[in-house]
Amino acid sequence: MTSLNIEKIKSTIDQWEDKERTWAMEYLHKLQLVDTDQAIAPFDRMNPFPARVLKKKMLNGEASNKEVYHLEISLEGSGFTYEPGDILGIHHDNPPRLVQAILSHFHIEGDTPFFYRDHLRTAETILHHLVEITSINAMLLKRYFKHTNHIEIQNLIDNKEEKLAYLFGHDVLDMLHDFPSNITFNQFIAMLTPRYPRLYSIASSSKKVGEQVHITIRTVRYQIKDREREGACSTFIADRIKERQLLPIFIEKNQEFKLPNPIMHPIVMVGAGVGVAPFRSFLQEIDGLEPHKKPDTWLFFGEQKEASDFLYKGEWETFQQSSTLTRIDTAFSRDTKTKTYVQHRMLEQQKLLWEWIHKREANLYICGDKHHMAKEVLQTLSLIAQEQGELSSEEADHYIELLQQEKRLQLDVF
Ligand SMILES: Cc1cc2nc3c(=O)[nH]c(=O)nc-3n(C[C@H](O)[C@H](O)[C@H](O)COP(=O)(O)OP(=O)(O)OC[C@H]3O[C@@H](n4cnc5c(N)ncnc54)[C@H](O)[C@@H]3O)c2cc1C
Ligand SMILES: NC(=O)c1ccc[n+]([C@@H]2O[C@H](COP(=O)([O-])OP(=O)(O)OC[C@H]3O[C@@H](n4cnc5c(N)ncnc54)[C@H](OP(=O)(O)O)[C@@H]3O)[C@@H](O)[C@H]2O)c1
Repeated sequence: MTSLNIEKIKSTIDQWEDKERTWAMEYLHKLQLVDTDQAIAPFDRMNPFPARVLKKKMLNGEASNKEVYHLEISLEGSGFTYEPGDILGIHHDNPPRLVQAILSHFHIEGDTPFFYRDHLRTAETILHHLVEITSINAMLLKRYFKHTNHIEIQNLIDNKEEKLAYLFGHDVLDMLHDFPSNITFNQFIAMLTPRYPRLYSIASSSKKVGEQVHITIRTVRYQIKDREREGACSTFIADRIKERQLLPIFIEKNQEFKLPNPIMHPIVMVGAGVGVAPFRSFLQEIDGLEPHKKPDTWLFFGEQKEASDFLYKGEWETFQQSSTLTRIDTAFSRDTKTKTYVQHRMLEQQKLLWEWIHKREANLYICGDKHHMAKEVLQTLSLIAQEQGELSSEEADHYIELLQQEKRLQLDVF
């Protein structure tokens, strides 16, 4: 933990608007910090720092299917430090529409008091701030089954594939609708998962942006059963957080996704969609190095459409001009008749890529979708090792495993 200057925090807070200042001072009182000059930094996952949002910018063009925001957040007064590869956590509020729909389901007013975890709170506060409502997990299904003895839930629990299909995309209101019961609001909130913060790959280097942190966040919106669904944290940012407002955040170290120190070999980065975020932080960091210390760097970036989804396009161009980014290969999947993904570009460039990996001992990084992209990129690396390194499939897989063990290949996937 870092030492904090409470006077600096107080002078920062003094410049804030009334409501936010009161909230932040109450927060410091709660942590018993306001009467102390120096203290141990109290801000972490359990005690998030109220950070000022400095900038919020939509990165996609009009014709896009995506809604991705670039967020710049002030860390002034927080004591937080970070390195490229680290993670930012956000404590969000749940979507008001879903909160209201659940209240209506139980026929209760938002200001009705209930005990939740030994504290008396309004129903609205509990649903809005304290429990998970946008998603359900296997544990919740089990708890709900124990209460309801609904045979259909038992069937779902017993069938892994059906259960996973149900869990993906359904929320707690679906569970109440799909498996009606006489559960009371009190019983219901007691079985919900406590709300947990969402994590985002840091997209900046503090060497470049000073006491700020940047993230890249895709808004989750979809429709099931004629009801619009809103990802809790991503729509909190998209719809309810404006520039100059405060956001409860924390930073977590991630030793599993780090640039080498010193950087002696080339860097290869593979990122699809918002998976490109940490590579902005890597390249900002490398941009700050003396020219003779800059490694060769290669970015593979994939998204749907070049015209609307080429996230941070201008910044990659600037990095190329300053010899920070040696090479970029893009795969825009919806601009081609057959889908072109990052791994297809890697295959096209396999001879050179193998030279970077094998001869020049490049460090490789993969970030983005865990379930499909990352798996297929790893398979592609194995294929390249087979074809270019003349290895058997087992030898190639072993080669990739060794790269991971030696931390020359690192993944940040979700
Ligand atoms: C280490 C790490 C780094 C991350 N970095 C980033 C990042 O840089 N940028 C970023 O945007 N995200 C990142 N994420 C993901 C992020 O943490 C959140 O999971 C994401 O923003 C969604 O949260 P939410 O609260 O908006 O949605 P939630 O309320 O959590 O809802 C998400 C749920 O919606 C469902 N769902 C989502 N899409 C659909 C769909 N199309 N159809 C049906 N159901 C669907 C799924 O069941 C999913 O569990 C990262 C995650 C991790 C673990
Ligand atoms: N938990 C959540 O709800 C949540 C919220 C936000 C983001 N995420 C995750 O964050 C990651 C990034 O999301 P994103 O929308 O920015 O990007 P994304 O969905 O990963 O899409 C980026 C690019 O990757 C392509 N792609 C699709 N399948 C692929 C595959 N098998 N191999 C390689 N590329 C593939 C996409 O093409 P096509 O689209 O044309 O197929 C698109 O061009 C994903 O894991 C996403 O699920 C999760």
